[in-house]
Amino acid sequence: MKLKKHHKLVIAADGSAASGKTTGAKLIAKKYGMKFLSSGLLYRYASYQLLKFEPKNEVFFLKKKFNKLKLSQLINKKFHSPEISEHTSIIAKQKKIRNVLKIFQKKFAKKHNKVVIEGRDIQTVILPNADIKFFFKCSLNVAARRRFKELKKRNKNIKLMDVKKAMRIRDYLDKKRKISPLIQSKKCCNCAVRQNKY
Ligand code: C5P
Repeated sequence: MKLKKHHKLVIAADGSAASGKTTGAKLIAKKYGMKFLSSGLLYRYASYQLLKFEPKNEVFFLKKKFNKLKLSQLINKKFHSPEISEHTSIIAKQKKIRNVLKIFQKKFAKKHNKVVIEGRDIQTVILPNADIKFFFKCSLNVAARRRFKELKKRNKNIKLMDVKKAMRIRDYLDKKRKISPLIQSKKCCNCAVRQNKY
């Protein structure tokens, strides 16, 4: 598949924690010269800022932060600590917080012709009309071992059992929350590729 500069291509990728969605989405973005966004990083960034500044009005505070957010600010090892991971899935239950991040993601998708966004609610809420939708699945054992290897580099005392338990809880919260849960979209994609648009 050869993409020209003016071609539009929107890809949504969702999946549970450490299911391989970030690696997969990044590879696709690189291969086809697409802009990439990890929405999980946006939630992690929001969690970090809220814990650090404890603002009275969280929505007002986050709106200001996200208005001037640069993607380079999302690269921070601190955002991947077990504490932030846990807190992130708690704030992700709140509609008012999701709405702030939704605006950022929609703007990002609008700004670029070719985009890949990965997360939990991309194919259902953020990019319901995406051309291609991926849903990544991975057994908890494999996902936990993958995450454990990453975390072990920063914390020698971390235990696989604890990583697995935290991931089981996080995946459960992400799948069972009322607002924007992690589910595979029933709505088929536009299938731009199948329509021979490219
Ligand atoms: O993808 P990652 O594991 O970095 O996401 C961290 C957390 O952010 C998830 O466990 C979830 O609670 C939240 N999240 C979300 N919706 C998204 C992306 C992430 O609720 N689209």
